Amino acid sequence: MKVIAVVGAGGVGKTTVSAAIAVDLARRGLRTLVITVDPAKRLGTALGLEGVGSEPVETSEPDLWAAMLDAEESWHEVARRYADPTVARRLEENPFFEAIAGRFPASQAFAAADTMAEHVGSGRWEAVVVDTPPSAGGVEFFTAASDITELVGGRLIKILTGSRVPGARRMFVVVGAPVLRLADNILGGPVLTEVADFLFDLRTTYDGLAERAEEIGAILRASTTVVVTTPEPAPISEALQFGEALPEVAAAPSVVLLNRALPAAWADELDVPGDDALARTLRGWAAESARQIRLQRRLETELDAPVRPVPRLAEAPVGLDALAQLLPQRAVDRIVGPS
Ligand SMILES: Nc1ncnc2c1ncn2[C@@H]1O[C@H](COP(=O)(O)OP(=O)(O)OP(=O)(O)O)[C@@H](O)[C@H]1O
Ligand SMILES: [Mg+2]
Repeated sequence: MKVIAVVGAGGVGKTTVSAAIAVDLARRGLRTLVITVDPAKRLGTALGLEGVGSEPVETSEPDLWAAMLDAEESWHEVARRYADPTVARRLEENPFFEAIAGRFPASQAFAAADTMAEHVGSGRWEAVVVDTPPSAGGVEFFTAASDITELVGGRLIKILTGSRVPGARRMFVVVGAPVLRLADNILGGPVLTEVADFLFDLRTTYDGLAERAEEIGAILRASTTVVVTTPEPAPISEALQFGEALPEVAAAPSVVLLNRALPAAWADELDVPGDDALARTLRGWAAESARQIRLQRRLETELDAPVRPVPRLAEAPVGLDALAQLLPQRAVDRIVGPS
């Protein structure tokens, strides 16, 4: 069972690279699922992801399936999965649930990790490729499960809801409610009671979440991490930030892909003679190509992983064949092993 997590800043090509890796794995005969986040329309179409929904669909490529991650919906699934049915209903109807689903920074990352764990545990796949939501350089994908577990099992919540679940509800009602009702009277609404109810309900999901956080951790420790970046300053600094945070949560990435890279051979034209527009243009591109080569070395040192350039294509790769050709062999070998 292979699990490949693709991380990187917004817009660098994570979804495209995830699809390309998945096509490659499927063509090696592995029953492969790619979990994508908001694929560009034409890529979604190429993968057969027309509608919404997180159920895997079969693509036109044999052995390749694709699923879309719907963070909002997954959050509801989390409630249904980790709370008992009455509590889940109450949670979902609570206005704070919507607010948290929309605003908790790690919720998308948790939804992605949770969906990954669900599919990895299903036994249906020989390879799962996870495209991750853009956030904090990608490290959130690795930390979200324990962050959420900590939030739900956090001290503040323990104080508000009593120390044990679910038997403590009665105690909480007795001890907590009069105080809260008083506060509600002053504030003129059932706000605090609702918050307290919400926190209590949320807390009953703790055991399930803690268990899932363990599972996710184990999957991630055994998975292959692919960092994608482009040569621009913002994604590079996110990749470096990710590299700094990673040792705490996971192994070093297997490979860093420098996407939309210029051909290295262009750097040879640095000294092309002449003062005409063409010569100046060539020298300009040569300088940029040389900068990207130096950048690769720097990334290699700082992220402690091999860097492989992925060429900038004139046209966005969308068809399955174009995707299969996107990644150079040297990059593929690092990710899925030599064929
Ligand atoms: N090597 C490449 N050459 C040309 N176009 C590319 C290349 N890689 C990606 N693209 C195009 O760049 C755009 C962004 O790629 P993609 O959607 O995969 O990025 P992303 O990291 O998933 O973005 P987001 O963070 O928004 O999810 C797409 O239109 C894609 O087709
Ligand atoms: Mg994407």
